[in-house]
Amino acid sequence: MVHEIPTGRPFGGFPRVRMRRNRAHAWSRRLVQENELSTADLIWPIFLQEQAGRTPIGSMPGVDRLGPDVLVDAVGHAAELGIPAIALFPHVPDERKTPLCEEAWNEDNLVCRSLRAIRAAGLPIGTICDVALDPYNSAGHDGIVRDGVIVNDETVEALQRQAVAQANSGGDVQAPSDMMDGRIGALRDALDAAGHQGQLILSYAVKYASSFYGPFRDAVGSGGALKGDKKTYQMDPANSDEALREAALDLQEGADLLMVKPGMPYLDVLARVRRELGAPTFAYQVSGEFAMIRAAAANGWIDGDKVMLESLLAFRRAGADAVLTYFAPEAAARIRAG
Ligand code: PBG
Repeated sequence: MVHEIPTGRPFGGFPRVRMRRNRAHAWSRRLVQENELSTADLIWPIFLQEQAGRTPIGSMPGVDRLGPDVLVDAVGHAAELGIPAIALFPHVPDERKTPLCEEAWNEDNLVCRSLRAIRAAGLPIGTICDVALDPYNSAGHDGIVRDGVIVNDETVEALQRQAVAQANSGGDVQAPSDMMDGRIGALRDALDAAGHQGQLILSYAVKYASSFYGPFRDAVGSGGALKGDKKTYQMDPANSDEALREAALDLQEGADLLMVKPGMPYLDVLARVRRELGAPTFAYQVSGEFAMIRAAAANGWIDGDKVMLESLLAFRRAGADAVLTYFAPEAAARIRAG
């Protein structure tokens, strides 16, 4: 028997499966939504400066370097917005930069002083400390340079001192972004030996030699000094199997958390690392990605707020447990407004 539907067309003339039914109503769209962005997924990277007040960063409109007098209030605001953690990056005056980067483990340096101020304020927020020498290096590189070579093992010893100084000053998470070999195990040993067995290590396990970091180097003032590129330690953008080896090694060496960086151009790598290793994995929406969205929005070419939220949701869909983003306070405010 042939069933007819009201229009008189036979069943076979229509798609039985209509994907649009679930999309037809706001309530059904909510029911079938697979991923969600919440304030608990955001980490706010902050640039620190020695002098009081705020200094705008030209290539990152809306982002300021923060002085000691405004830092604690800004961090308190982030905590109120529900942001679980911040990441600190110092703008170091040129006269403090040296070939051996000694300022990196001076417990009176800008990062350590800022950590103590945040700790003293008792704010319910985690502090993530960058572990890398570039802000302190007169050569602009993440490692110590000898005869034009970025020397691995001597750099790792400097990183051990830096991480212990930052942990001594109240930092919660040490986040090596330098890409030296063996640094995760070495940091774990140094932190344990210094009595910091509870310190988390967030490894920038998969960090590419990317051209998306330009505005960051303006923000911390490391771009001017840098000669050459970082290709002998950061990864080739052409590779992704190598990313899995890097990330697996760092877990073996004692990393608690992994990161893939940059973000949007590397969602495939993020998804592989998260799925194949099953460890908490963060994405870093880096300065160049931020600048592109801001610039297009300022020209009226895209809706900045919508693109911001869509880009952050994309990280969640690809598997990121959290995202480092300069948009964190804005995104958190938007999420809370509903
Ligand atoms: C350096 C460091 C960089 C970033 C974070 N830590 C830049 C680099 O490797 O040159 C980039 C972050 C960004 O672009 O937002 N240790």
